[in-house]
Amino acid sequence: MSSRISASSTSPSATLGASQPTATIRLENIYKIYSLGEVQVPALRGVSLEIDPGEFIAVMGASGSGKSTLMNILGCLDRPTKGRYFLDGRDVSVLTKDELAAIRSHKIGFVFQQFNLLPRTSALENVELPTIYAGVPVQERAKRAEEALERVGLSDRAGHFPSQLSGGQQQRVAIARALVNNPSLLLADEPTGNLDSRTSVEIMEILQGLNDQHGLTVVIVTHEFDIAQYAKRALEFRDGKLRRDTPIQNRSIASKVLPTLPAVRADDDEPDFPAGPATGGNGSGSLA
Ligand SMILES: Nc1ncnc2c1ncn2[C@@H]1O[C@H](COP(=O)(O)OP(=O)(O)OP(=O)(O)O)[C@@H](O)[C@H]1O
Ligand SMILES: [Mg+2]
Repeated sequence: MSSRISASSTSPSATLGASQPTATIRLENIYKIYSLGEVQVPALRGVSLEIDPGEFIAVMGASGSGKSTLMNILGCLDRPTKGRYFLDGRDVSVLTKDELAAIRSHKIGFVFQQFNLLPRTSALENVELPTIYAGVPVQERAKRAEEALERVGLSDRAGHFPSQLSGGQQQRVAIARALVNNPSLLLADEPTGNLDSRTSVEIMEILQGLNDQHGLTVVIVTHEFDIAQYAKRALEFRDGKLRRDTPIQNRSIASKVLPTLPAVRADDDEPDFPAGPATGGNGSGSLA
């Protein structure tokens, strides 16, 4: 499997991934059964899987096939009903909620379809929030948040509230927030689900950059075949089981695709602010 690691040829930056190795994931026969009163809902039914450091995975499958359930377990937001989950060699399926929270805080960044930013809080403060939970000294927090915003090209929007940002920009703030504690694993559940196609490719460019240049292990869920092509490996789920596990041949490279897409009209999006470099403009009206 290590043959899939392409990021090993590039050294991690001083600001990301330098302090800890990237994640290795091993799932052994994972089951997740939700209990709704009398009814048992099997969401995952015997999933076994390995993910090496530096991989970029696209998780696909029909609605209800167990993708988000898998992500919640990978992200230590939830525990499997049965089976074992080893993260960097440690069996995390037996840990308490507090222990899982500590692992989440230091190792894992999470990005959601709906961005999940605090509305009355600036971009910088949104990004800073996880540093508080991670116990980062107060004098370092803003600096860390500024660096994370810079990584997603949004330094000039630090003081903006989410409502003053386009959908693509909000998602970039959410990615910066996921990066601020220097995780080794980035999980994104349909990160482009609320974005138009050009903005989606801009988000994939950021994720590919983090994976290629910083060796960050990335796992995304997507319904879109075209988006999955930016990953290195695709997993397809059906009825709570892993049905297909295939490498992506001729993967799409976002930085090459972007120049071929129609430019965003200045009046499409962000009406109140001058356009910055590579902003997430959008003509589809699909902003959250
Ligand atoms: N908290 C919960 N309680 C009960 N059942 C749940 C819960 N979360 C998910 N399920 C059920 O588990 C199954 C898998 O759900 P999951 O959210 O993982 O699917 P998904 O592949 O992410 O779907 P989608 O593409 O619609 O997001 C579904 O049948 C769902 O109804
Ligand atoms: Mg889901």
